[in-house]
Amino acid sequence: MKPLIAGNWKMHLNRADAAALAGELVRSLPAPLEYADVALFPPFPYIADVLGAVADSDIEVGAQNMHEADRGAFTGEVSGPMLLDVGATRVLVGHSERRHVFGESDGATNQKIKAALGHDIAPTLCVGEQLEEREAGQTEAVVERQLRAGLDGVSAERANTVTVAYEPVWAIGTGLTASPEQAGEVHAFIRGLLIDIWGDAGARVRILYGGSVKPANASALLKTPEIGGVLVGGASLTTNLFLPIIRAAE
Ligand code: PGA
Repeated sequence: MKPLIAGNWKMHLNRADAAALAGELVRSLPAPLEYADVALFPPFPYIADVLGAVADSDIEVGAQNMHEADRGAFTGEVSGPMLLDVGATRVLVGHSERRHVFGESDGATNQKIKAALGHDIAPTLCVGEQLEEREAGQTEAVVERQLRAGLDGVSAERANTVTVAYEPVWAIGTGLTASPEQAGEVHAFIRGLLIDIWGDAGARVRILYGGSVKPANASALLKTPEIGGVLVGGASLTTNLFLPIIRAAE
């Protein structure tokens, strides 16, 4: 399977810059793009504009979060049907900023994963340990808890719609990257868990690495066994950083 290079724009850019960045990616990449899948996760208000800018390309567009209910009195939230309505086909679930800044629980990630799958929106479940947890030797326990809880009750038939992203919290936005060895160890552990949960179907799930991915480290990370792509924050906000990361998959 081709590696997935995903850009998480978080709460950055404005409408014009978001569309311009997406358009520049389309113009700079060959079509079809043989060596990678590319997905962009803009802020909610810009999803439609970004979709317009990538219309004639293979670039996919998703949301950074969604609510598990289809509709209701949930001020400030956005539902799966609303995402589908504007054309988003992917969603990030349980990003560490959702978990640690907004207090999202493992249970909530599970409901969101199930709701996304129910609407045929492809979820990316993000998991990862905090620095204290790594230092206390709890990395595997934390990742296992987040993964098993997030995927609880999801059948093997849906495995091919799910992506997992391992993002050590201490590496996000800090400039500290997990070394390919550190990332590879956790990716291998996650692969074992996915096979335990889903059998053969778990062997085919893409596992992305995220956390200070840059042009300088992308290629080594992408060559590491079990790393099936990268989830890029800061370096996805400009073409001069994001394009070389995409091309590192070649
Ligand atoms: P970063 O963010 O690349 O800026 O570290 C990654 C992420 O949070 O997905």
